[in-house]
Amino acid sequence: MQPVNAAVVYYSATGTVHALAAAVAEGAEKAGATVRLRKVAETVPESIIGGNPAWAAHVSASADVAGATLDDLDWADVVLFGTPTRFGNVSAQLKAFIDSTGPLWFSGGLAGKVYTAFTASNTAHGGQESTLLALANVFYHWGGIIVPPGYTDPIQFRSGNPYGTSHVTGDGPPGEVVLQAARHQARRAVETAAALKAGRLPETGRLPENGVRA
Ligand SMILES: Cc1cc2nc3c(=O)[nH]c(=O)nc-3n(C[C@H](O)[C@H](O)[C@H](O)COP(=O)(O)O)c2cc1C
Repeated sequence: MQPVNAAVVYYSATGTVHALAAAVAEGAEKAGATVRLRKVAETVPESIIGGNPAWAAHVSASADVAGATLDDLDWADVVLFGTPTRFGNVSAQLKAFIDSTGPLWFSGGLAGKVYTAFTASNTAHGGQESTLLALANVFYHWGGIIVPPGYTDPIQFRSGNPYGTSHVTGDGPPGEVVLQAARHQARRAVETAAALKAGRLPETGRLPENGVRA
C-alpha cells in the first residue's frame, strides 16, 4: 500500500468525540497510515468551562493531545474531522480552526485530499446528519474527495449512519458497535487515499504563489 498520512482533527468538550477520534486514529493506524491525533483549540473562557465538571475533567484528561495546526492538514493525505453537534451544526471550536485555513486553501493545499467526518449529539434525532452535511460543505469548497462510510461493512447496519460515525451521547459513552464503525470509517478513508496515491492523482492540485494554475 502507498504510505498514507492521516490527520484526525477534532473538538470534544466532554470526551465523547474524543473517544470516537481515538477509535478513528486506531482504525487508520491499523490500515497502515501514519497518524496524527489533533484537538483544535478551545475558544470558551476557563471560567465557563470550570462551571461544568464534565467539561473541566475532559480538558484535564486530554491535556496531552497535541493541538491541530495548518501543517497537520498540509501534511495529511486524508483528514478525519470530528465535532459534537451544536444546534444541528458544527462546533464553533472546529469551525474556528477551519476558518483559519484560508491561505492553505488559496494555495490549493487542501484540494485532492480525502475527507470524512464523525460526530455526536445528545439525542437520536438531534442533528447528526445535518452536522456532517454542514462539514461536507467545507470539503466541497476545498476540492476534497469525500469518503463516507455508507453501508460498506456489516457494522454499518448496526451503527446505522452512512454519513459518518455518530454517537448518541445521551445513551452513555460510545460502546463497541460505534467504536467499530469509527475504525471501519477510518480504514475505508485510508484505503481510498492509498488507492488515489497509487493511481497518481495529482498530489494536491497546489497552486503557485499567485494562485494561478500553471
Ligand atoms: C451549545 C450546545 C448545543 C447543542 N446542540 C445539540 C443539538 O442540536 N442536538 C443534540 O442532540 N445535542 C446537542 N448538544 C449536545 C452535544 O452535542 C453533546 O453534548 C455532545 O455530543 C457531546 O460531545 P463531547 O462529549 O465530545 O463534547 C449541544 C450542546 C451544546 C453545549
